[in-house]
Amino acid sequence: MGYFIRCLLVMLFHSTLVLGHRPLEKSHSLSLVTMVPLLELEKKLIDNLENYTNALEQKLEIIRSQLLVIRAENEKGRRNAISYLSNPLNGFSIIRRLHQDWINWRKYMEQPVGIWQLKAFYSWKDELPTERDLWDACEGIARIQSTYDLKVGDFINGNINGKQYNDSMSTADILSVGAYLFMKNRPSDAIQWLQEVPQRLQEELLIQPRHLPIKEVDALRLLAEAQIKDQNYSEALPLLHNCLKLQPHDARVLRLWKKTTDFIENQPDQSPTENKKRNVPIANAFKLSCNGPLESSTRLHCFYNFTTTPFLRLAPLKTEQIGLDPYVVLYHEVLSAREISMLIGKAAQNMKNTKIHKERAVPKKNRGRTAKGFWLKKESNELTKRITRRIMDMTGFDLADSEGFQVINYGIGGHYFLHMDYFDFASSNHTDTRSRYSIDLGDRIATVLFYLTDVEQGGATVFGDVGYYVSPQAGTAIFWYNLDTDGNGDPRTRHAACPVIVGSKWVMTEWIREKRQIFIRPCLPKAKGTSTKS
Ligand SMILES: *[C@@H]1O[C@H](CO)[C@@H](O)[C@H](O)[C@H]1NC(C)=O
Ligand SMILES: *[C@@H]1O[C@H](CO)[C@@H](O)[C@H](O)[C@H]1NC(C)=O
Ligand SMILES: *[C@@H]1O[C@H](CO)[C@@H](O)[C@H](O)[C@H]1NC(C)=O
Ligand SMILES: *[C@@H]1O[C@H](CO)[C@@H](O)[C@H](O)[C@H]1NC(C)=O
Ligand SMILES: *[C@@H]1O[C@H](CO)[C@@H](O)[C@H](O)[C@H]1NC(C)=O
Repeated sequence: MGYFIRCLLVMLFHSTLVLGHRPLEKSHSLSLVTMVPLLELEKKLIDNLENYTNALEQKLEIIRSQLLVIRAENEKGRRNAISYLSNPLNGFSIIRRLHQDWINWRKYMEQPVGIWQLKAFYSWKDELPTERDLWDACEGIARIQSTYDLKVGDFINGNINGKQYNDSMSTADILSVGAYLFMKNRPSDAIQWLQEVPQRLQEELLIQPRHLPIKEVDALRLLAEAQIKDQNYSEALPLLHNCLKLQPHDARVLRLWKKTTDFIENQPDQSPTENKKRNVPIANAFKLSCNGPLESSTRLHCFYNFTTTPFLRLAPLKTEQIGLDPYVVLYHEVLSAREISMLIGKAAQNMKNTKIHKERAVPKKNRGRTAKGFWLKKESNELTKRITRRIMDMTGFDLADSEGFQVINYGIGGHYFLHMDYFDFASSNHTDTRSRYSIDLGDRIATVLFYLTDVEQGGATVFGDVGYYVSPQAGTAIFWYNLDTDGNGDPRTRHAACPVIVGSKWVMTEWIREKRQIFIRPCLPKAKGTSTKS
């Protein structure tokens, strides 16, 4: 009996978890493929709103059709009141109408319209993106703009990185990004967005939806506040002036006005303080490397690799050297279109937010990695077994102990900040021996990164310290060693996934572990400048 009740409780608890506040990670903007249902959700909402208009219309029609009849009777009476009322049939009728019919009309008018549609709306409220989703999306947009130094004015008009698209951002979209950056204490970034808003509001005054207004005074005040935060008081003053013209008694604006004028009076020679920009070398390194290879680097050369396995003697891989030290090669045509669509199809159903292993140094605060992924076991089906064999042919490594495949899809401005793939167990207290990151399997000796899609703009893989730059191309893969010949992490393999600008970027990674490779690892010439041996 006790057991039965416990089961029941577990079931109830479980079902409230599933039906109530669902613990599922959504983070919509982190992966393009998981945003597809949002369009379906929006269609449902539109259909529902249309049904709502139908309900309104139905009521309207009923009233309209009755209006004619009752007005006609009333007109008839008013044309000659005495004669109308002198007939008792009419006299009786007006008393009854006013006592009964009009009470019923009042009740009918009071009846709410569209309750079903409203109920349906409530039932979908948990599916709507949250504030966090909006922030992630704002961050993605801001990342694209700042990483590639795009002009906000061009970007919002659909001129993205030099290419004109038939899409643009609405004023509400622009204001959202600006407000987010302001909230995140990035006033000079916020200003670039917010200053686009007032002009547009003026132009849109007539076409703005009246029930979703953006108040001009709010937009101006936010821009003024951003200027003040950015210590540009002289820019803030005219904005506040305009606010006061629109809303002379706004206490918040009056406070800002006083603060600003006080500041200007006390420090008339407002000299630009040059220490405003924080110095963030690593962020700059990321930005620099994402903006393309420094000199028009010519790839070293292409060749067919016939060596290693018997398979390769029959079907050599077309190989391209990206760089020799550290060694990075690009393999062409390693996955077929069919294999790719199977991998993506499998993963798309099961995407989870990607996590960064805790001991690898990537800034956590700003979401060092924005993507969703799915782990596929190497032996899960014929396809993964075939790909495993292919990686063994490509690299010569034994994959028996290596990690599963991680299939990853990036979202809005999706990126992976500069990082190394190796753990460097030696220099940290690694205790985790059970997870897939287990120390027993050795460090990540090498990485194979498959590109499953082309990316229209952005999304390159860059090795910032050595200037390698690889654009994703469906079916290709890059391979590199993370460790030097002594087994120490090679810091020059620090790499990043640049923000996707336009496109859906899918990749698949395989991290090969060191343990089984003792007798396999080819002896590379020892790299210069990496004598970090302890
Ligand atoms: C809208 O109304 C139609 C017909 O009454 C119904 O079949 C449909 O499910 C409704 N759609 C929504 C989204 O409520
Ligand atoms: C751009 O979009 C508008 C409206 O969505 C459409 O009418 C027009 O044909 C599109 N133009 C191009 C070149 O796609
Ligand atoms: C204030 O803003 C103006 C115009 O945007 C700009 O030219 C100027 O450099 C800014 N001054 C400071 C101190 O940031
Ligand atoms: C061919 O591939 C094997 C295994 O990856 C590698 O060890 C070898 O260096 C490659 N050959 C050339 C010429 O790069
Ligand atoms: C490793 O452990 C020591 C002692 O427990 C501690 O002082 C040190 O901070 C740890 N280092 C890291 C990188 O966690």
